[in-house]
Amino acid sequence: MLDRLPTDREHLISDDLERTKKMTVMRSNGETPHATDTPGCTTDLSIEDVKKELYNRHHPSLTFLDIEAHAKTVHRIRTLKQKHDVVMLGHNYMEPLVFGLSEKEEQGDSLGLSMFAAKTEAPYLIFNGVPFMAETAKILSPDKTVLVADKTAGCSLADNFGAEDVKELKELYPGAPVMIYVNSYADAKAESDICCTSANAAHIAKTLPGDTVIFVPDIFFAQNLEEELKGEKNVVYPGKDNTARGAVCEVHERFTLDDLLNVRESFEIPKGHPDRKLYAHWECRPNVLQEADFYGSTSQIMKDIAERVAVNQLERAFVASECELTSNLAQEFPKVQFWTACSIRCSHMAQVNLGKIANILEAIDRDDDLSEYEITLSPETIDKARTPIERMLEASV
Ligand code: 13P
Ligand code: SF4
Repeated sequence: MLDRLPTDREHLISDDLERTKKMTVMRSNGETPHATDTPGCTTDLSIEDVKKELYNRHHPSLTFLDIEAHAKTVHRIRTLKQKHDVVMLGHNYMEPLVFGLSEKEEQGDSLGLSMFAAKTEAPYLIFNGVPFMAETAKILSPDKTVLVADKTAGCSLADNFGAEDVKELKELYPGAPVMIYVNSYADAKAESDICCTSANAAHIAKTLPGDTVIFVPDIFFAQNLEEELKGEKNVVYPGKDNTARGAVCEVHERFTLDDLLNVRESFEIPKGHPDRKLYAHWECRPNVLQEADFYGSTSQIMKDIAERVAVNQLERAFVASECELTSNLAQEFPKVQFWTACSIRCSHMAQVNLGKIANILEAIDRDDDLSEYEITLSPETIDKARTPIERMLEASV
C-alpha cells in the first residue's frame, strides 16, 4: 500500500540524505471507500468489528501489522470514550489511528478545534494535540476537565516565547495592537490584544485599528503576513529592526525552496498544471510559500483539496507540512496521489499515541487522579487570556 520512492528519485529533498531515504510515496488504488463511509467511533463493536473497520479504510499507511497490533487498544478506547461521554478532539497532524478516534466534527485545525471546544457540553475533553492547543480549549471551557496524552509535548513556537517577550515588543511599539499566533502559551496570550490562527491571521489583522500590527511569535509567518498585507498594514515582528526574541516552527523551516523545486521536477508538478498542486502551510519560509500553488492552514489545505477532488481537478499533490497531515489526506482522498517526507514529522505531536490515550481513559474509568493529564491554569490567567481568544472568535465569524 505504501510504496517507497524509486531510488532514482531519492535526490528529492536536497542536501539531506537521511531525510531523502525516508521519503515515501503514498498511492491509493482508487477503489477504497471514502474514509467517512466507515463508522468512525461507534461502539458496541467487538474487537473483530474494529479490525474489519480498520481494514476497510484501506489506508495507504496502515498495514495489517499495525491493525493487528492496535485493534484491541482502539476498541478499548472507543468503549471507554462512549461510556464516559468523552469528547475527543483530533488535530489534523495526528497519526491515522489516533486521528480516526475522533468523529469527523471533532477533527480539525487549531481554529476549528477551539471553536468546537467552546460549544461542547461533554464533561471530559481529551485533546489529541499539543498542550498549547488544549490550553485554548481550557480557557474557553474552564469548567471542563481538559486532558492531554502528554503534558511534556512542546512546540518550538510556544516554547520559545513568553509573556516577557510580548511586554518588550509593546514597549518598543507603544499603541500598536499585539496579534498573537495561537501557537503560544496562555501567559503570553494574556499580555496580547487579539489571538489568531493560520486560518484567519490576514483577516484578523485587517480588522485591527491603526496602520501597524505587532505579530508574534512566528517570524516566517510574520514575513508571509507582511507580504500578504503589503500596502494595507505595517507588520512588525521579533527581529525586524529590533532585537526582540521570536521563534520559527522547527518542522516547517525544514522545507527549502530547493526542496520544492525538486518536488516540482521529480514528481512532475509543474507550475500552472491544472490537476497537480503544491501546497504549503503559512509557517513555511517566505520563498517556499511564494513557490506553492496554494497556502493556508491545515484545514484550508484540506478544503482546497476536497473542492478540487469534487470537480475532478486533482490527480497529484505535495503538501509542505507535517507528514501525518498527508497521511490523513491520503485516506480521505484515495484517488489523489500524495507524496510526503515522513521524516518531516512534528516530534511533539508524535508524543500523542494510542497507549497514552488509553491510559487517560482507564484513569477516568477507575476514577483515579487525573493530574498527570489535566491542563490547569490559574483563574487570573484564564480571565486574561480569554479576551484575546474571544476577540478572535468574534472577528472570525
Ligand atoms: P493549524 O492551525 O493549521 O492547524 O496549524 C497548527 C500548527 O501547529 C501548524 O504547525
Ligand atoms: Fe509547533 Fe511546528 Fe509542531 Fe506545529 S508543527 S506544533 S508549529 S513545532
